[in-house]
Amino acid sequence: MNICVVGSGYVGLVAGACMSDFGMNVTCVDSDKSKIRMLKKGQMPIFEIGLSEIVQRNVKLGRLQFSSNLADAVDRSLVIFIGVGTPENDDGSSNLTQVRQVATEVARSMNDYKVIVIKSTVPVGTSRELDQLVKENLNSDVEFDIVSNPEFLREGTAVNDFLRPDRVVIGAGSERALAIVRDIYRPLYLLETPIVSTTNETAEMVKYASNTMLALKISFINEIANICDRVKADVYTVATAVGMDKRIGPKFLHPGPGFGGSCFPKDIRSLVNTAESVDYNFEIGKAVLRVNERQKELIVEKSCQLLGELKGKSICLLGLSFKPGTDDVREAPALHIARRLLEKGATVKAYDPAAMEQARRELPDITYGKDYMTAASDTDLVIIATEWHEFRDLDFDQLKSRMRSPNIYDTRNIYDPKDIRRRGFNYICTGRDC
Ligand SMILES: NC(=O)c1ccc[n+]([C@@H]2O[C@H](COP(=O)([O-])OP(=O)(O)OC[C@H]3O[C@@H](n4cnc5c(N)ncnc54)[C@H](O)[C@@H]3O)[C@@H](O)[C@H]2O)c1
Repeated sequence: MNICVVGSGYVGLVAGACMSDFGMNVTCVDSDKSKIRMLKKGQMPIFEIGLSEIVQRNVKLGRLQFSSNLADAVDRSLVIFIGVGTPENDDGSSNLTQVRQVATEVARSMNDYKVIVIKSTVPVGTSRELDQLVKENLNSDVEFDIVSNPEFLREGTAVNDFLRPDRVVIGAGSERALAIVRDIYRPLYLLETPIVSTTNETAEMVKYASNTMLALKISFINEIANICDRVKADVYTVATAVGMDKRIGPKFLHPGPGFGGSCFPKDIRSLVNTAESVDYNFEIGKAVLRVNERQKELIVEKSCQLLGELKGKSICLLGLSFKPGTDDVREAPALHIARRLLEKGATVKAYDPAAMEQARRELPDITYGKDYMTAASDTDLVIIATEWHEFRDLDFDQLKSRMRSPNIYDTRNIYDPKDIRRRGFNYICTGRDC
């Protein structure tokens, strides 16, 4: 089957590469010509474990190609996946400009039956709107179907998530389109991956409900951790024991500096906005966002409590990406913390194994170290903001001798408080100060 994937970012590139690995002939299209040039040279525009190998293998086999010519790719394909960005408008609603533009261009290039699959995260009702938009822009009398197939991959483990998903959700109003899209995912249901077939609207809603639930668990455990701090209870044990309840489960119960990334914050704001548009006040969604903002600010407050006046103090941030395994710094808590520390007069140094190039564009006013020890040298406080593997085994003896004052703020609770304090550090963490 010939497939075209429009948008070669985290979702489009990973989906396109993995579908070519399933045996499909895939053309990944992007309007960013420099991205396409990079991909044609075998360079990856994003950092994802295993992606480069899959891309190289399938390019060599002739099943994967890259192009900026959408019309040509549509002409050759039965199925067109839309995986472009859906950023946020000022009021929190989703900006569908890219999606609409692609749908319009696809419609103008269609010469026979096509299945248009929306993979981007779009508000409920978008598939209906695109159906109309495509009809209005057709140049000839051809049939088409719109399918909603939201993506649940996580940055950092995107390839594995795409190849081994918990479920695949396909929303379609036509049996013909449903059968075609199910066929693409055949290698997954041989692995017994559940396929949920439903309406377009329900599929669109599943994505927002899932992301809100995950973010809710994070905000929930962050609040529990903050209370633990005040009542001398240990959130680690609380979360472990709570997670043993099969109705709850252990995942996403790790306190920290709040969630970030390109999806959770914008998707929850979008669902709040959708709810408002149908005259519903989505109280839990709003609370999840408020708690998250407060959590980031709490890191700054606790740093101030530890160091007193920040003017003249030097603080090192270990980790800048919003989570390990990715170079994505969009809405990363570390960036918020760095900006607030700068505002309060501190100088900020930082190190991240993958995200320094991206962070530099957002935060040119801080110093970047070539490794964690260089970044932490001559500082008054090290804040572990992202739990990268290499921060799990820091050389504390050397760190102590290189820092101005031995203060560690482990926002991700990587270490055992007693152990680090025994090594002579002032150690603070999240909800484990018992
Ligand atoms: N990043 C994730 O972890 C993730 C997970 C699930 C769902 N999503 C959703 O998937 C969608 C894409 O997210 P992403 O992170 O891959 O975005 P991204 O910004 O990494 O990639 C989007 C790509 O689309 C390209 N593009 C924009 N307009 C185009 C056009 N008219 N024609 C061709 N290409 C165009 C851009 O150049 C860019 O390369 C969003 O709706 C997002 O919410 C993202």
